[in-house]
Amino acid sequence: MPKWLHWMFAGFFVTVLLTASYTAMADPKNEITYRRATMKALGGHMGALNAILSGRVKRGKGSVVVHARAIGNIGKLSHTLFAKGTDKGRTRAKPQIWAKPNQFKQAIAAFKKASAKLASSANNRDMKIVKRAFKAVTKTCGGCHKTFRLPRRKR
Ligand code: HEC
Repeated sequence: MPKWLHWMFAGFFVTVLLTASYTAMADPKNEITYRRATMKALGGHMGALNAILSGRVKRGKGSVVVHARAIGNIGKLSHTLFAKGTDKGRTRAKPQIWAKPNQFKQAIAAFKKASAKLASSANNRDMKIVKRAFKAVTKTCGGCHKTFRLPRRKR
């Protein structure tokens, strides 16, 4: 093979590899949109479940289970919402999430545990047990937001 052809092939493969790794890189903007949409969904299910548990709306066990499981399922993927590089842009995520990863991991773990317990307790006949599990989840939301979320601001 002539040398110039050799270099042409090499150049071609470098271009292919660079293009592939660039497309594999997550776009921080999309990651932030996904995180916020997921958090909103979480807040929606918490609000809906609260309306039932407080007696403001009348619903059967089936509805309680649907909301509680949705909350538990979001708990399962909560650790995937905080990709590196998503601390800049339209976000209220504090840089401490990435600067203090151990403390943040604890906040995620507490939320996972509490939301899993809510999901598994939702079938319970004793509403006191479900309410207690719900309250425990709200504490883990606030616990993380207090330390790792910036105050609301005008965008
Ligand atoms: C481990 C940390 C953590 C936990 C646990 C957590 N959140 Fe969040 N939440 C965040 C962060 C960080 C943001 C800011 C996200 C952003 O702006 O990119 C946020 C944003 C939100 C938002 C605003 C979304 C928007 O941008 O409109 C809502 C609503 C919300 N969380 C609800 C909840 C509820 C309800 C729970 C508990 C059931 C919860 N969160 C648990 C860290 C957490």
